[in-house]
Amino acid sequence: MKDKIVLVTGAALGIGKAAAQAFAGLGAKLALADIHEKEGKKVLAELQAEGAEAFFMQTDVADYEVVKAFVAKTVETFGGLDIALNNAGIGSELRRTADFQLEDWDRVIAVNQTGVFYCMKEELSYMQKARKGCIVNISSMAGLKAMPNQIAYTASKHAVIGMTKTAALEYARQGIRVNAVCPVFTSTPLVDKLISMGDNMEQKLLRSIPMGRFGQVADIVNAILWLCDDKSDFVTGQSLPIDGGQMC
Ligand SMILES: NC(=O)c1ccc[n+]([C@@H]2O[C@H](COP(=O)([O-])OP(=O)(O)OC[C@H]3O[C@@H](n4cnc5c(N)ncnc54)[C@H](O)[C@@H]3O)[C@@H](O)[C@H]2O)c1
Repeated sequence: MKDKIVLVTGAALGIGKAAAQAFAGLGAKLALADIHEKEGKKVLAELQAEGAEAFFMQTDVADYEVVKAFVAKTVETFGGLDIALNNAGIGSELRRTADFQLEDWDRVIAVNQTGVFYCMKEELSYMQKARKGCIVNISSMAGLKAMPNQIAYTASKHAVIGMTKTAALEYARQGIRVNAVCPVFTSTPLVDKLISMGDNMEQKLLRSIPMGRFGQVADIVNAILWLCDDKSDFVTGQSLPIDGGQMC
């Protein structure tokens, strides 16, 4: 990863923050995007204090012009783009489909689905010129199976897998790989919020994982690093469950 140019969306918290730290620790140059400016700048300061070359730009991945500007800034600042981690994502209130709020539907689809499309559109426009690159999109177990009371999240994460496969096929001959990871419930602020929403939710979620524990950010980051490494050079279009056995 030494001197690789790596872009991470949703880099202020959770999996994105941990991934940015891991890439920086391996010598990569980091372009960080997040909607939360204060938290994002905090991560930037931490990485710079460790000696990393990095910048942060406040970015809403649901806003095409802002995504375009962020990817352009990455290329201008570092002279290219080797790896993109399209990680920014949100959940919503838990409701059955008939009661699901229209504004929740619109925002979750805008961030989790359209945001990944916007990011890939811009990233691939640079990568195809360079004829190299690697993209990892963050889907979810909800991209592979139903998650009741979360129709928008489930739809958006299934869409991420479809978009991953489509882009992988389109660019396979140009040296660009596109994969996804599908984490099960992982200890981050996003899951803390989910746990706070329901009675005994923590136990219910834990019971659904055969290994009997939540994922840790390191579990997800290790898979991301492998998918971005030359060791996985022949792997593209895949959506890797990291799930403690849930899909068995
Ligand atoms: N934690 C889990 O259990 C879990 C499981 C499966 C998939 N995922 C996926 O992993 C990804 C990261 O999740 P996490 O658990 O680290 O969540 P998190 O809430 O801890 O972090 C998400 C980050 O994305 C940022 N973000 C939100 N909306 C944004 C927007 N519009 N534009 C830019 N940034 C935005 C947030 O500010 C935050 O920093 C998400 O796509 C999520 O759906 C998480």
